[in-house]
Amino acid sequence: MADTSSSSAHAPVQAVSGIMPPAIPVRGVRIAGTGSQLPSKVISNDLLASVVQTNDEWIQQRTGIRERRMCDRSKGESNRWLCTESLRKALAAANMKASELDLIICGTISQDMRCPSTACLVAADLGAGTAAAWDLGAACCGFVYPLNVAHDLIRVGTHKAIGIIGCDTITAILDYHNRGVCILFGDGAGAAVLVADSDPSRGCLAQVNKADGTGWTDLFQPAEEWQIPEGVDRTTTKLGCLQMNGKAVFKFAVGTFQELIAETLTKAGISAEQVDVFVCHQSNARILDAARERFGIPPEKLHVNIDRVGNTSAGSVPLVLDELMLAGKIKPGMIVMFVAFGAGLTWTSSLWRV
Ligand code: COA
Repeated sequence: MADTSSSSAHAPVQAVSGIMPPAIPVRGVRIAGTGSQLPSKVISNDLLASVVQTNDEWIQQRTGIRERRMCDRSKGESNRWLCTESLRKALAAANMKASELDLIICGTISQDMRCPSTACLVAADLGAGTAAAWDLGAACCGFVYPLNVAHDLIRVGTHKAIGIIGCDTITAILDYHNRGVCILFGDGAGAAVLVADSDPSRGCLAQVNKADGTGWTDLFQPAEEWQIPEGVDRTTTKLGCLQMNGKAVFKFAVGTFQELIAETLTKAGISAEQVDVFVCHQSNARILDAARERFGIPPEKLHVNIDRVGNTSAGSVPLVLDELMLAGKIKPGMIVMFVAFGAGLTWTSSLWRV
């Protein structure tokens, strides 16, 4: 017979006293403040039509975009600057100092420098002391993925206050000879400060976080020739620039966007009518319209700003969020759904009682 007198792999878990994880407190999470920043240079459809064969009517009909913004490097505008200013404003709205944050997560795929992370640079710019800081690369999901991560870190009690930023400066990686892509994107950033709240009913009610890496060839940025996948025309592919299979991405986006909303509602056990505000990634006005029609969402519940800013990738959702907050359209107690999808392919949602 085996000796069971000493501790063994079969010992009951309760017996291992002193090394159990702490009990998880039930605590709420609140969006204490939001902020956003756009660059100063306005790129109209007419201006684009002067450098590539396109026109204002085509762009507006196919995408809903009238103009977008671009960083003016001569004025010191950059990815880092957009991130810093948007989080600075979010902290001011929350009436907090950067030194009160214990983590900064920056969602971006277009850092000015790969190393160090933009989050570290922002922490230095704002005086966040020794707050942890990292970047998260998820393209257009670059705000909602961090939103879910930050929420859960606060919910379980390991963090008290987290600054999250979604920012992209995609215009720096566009080929302005490729009219199918360059018309879509603009630069911009938004941020939010999340804090613990004594009311446990506040925070995320349901979330969905997914990706399908097999779809990477539909939207990618090759640095070197060997990275260009088979079937993609090498003669028209400019290294360092964003490549997109527009039709495939459109199909993915229309379907995924709607399934994402449906799955999130099912998880939370509520109907679309019970959602007060939808804060959605702005990739194409037609994709937003299709979702509005399917779920019967009235225009006032789904804010659209793509006409003014284009697709700002990770900046998209937090820019919409900040516009709604500034307009007083998101109030405590409301049910708000965040939805994003993009390169990867990635898709994510977060349903909140704010
Ligand atoms: N101006 C004028 N004509 C253009 C053009 C432009 N900027 N871009 C493409 N065209 C032309 C094409 O060459 C094609 O001409 P052809 O019929 O003579 O060959 C015609 O317009 C139709 O092109 P197509 O690619 O079928 O257009 P579309 O209706 O699919 O619209 C997109 C193109 C890019 C607007 C659309 O596919 C889209 O929005 N895709 C999703 C993009 C997206 O959301 N990306 C980010 C995801 S986060």
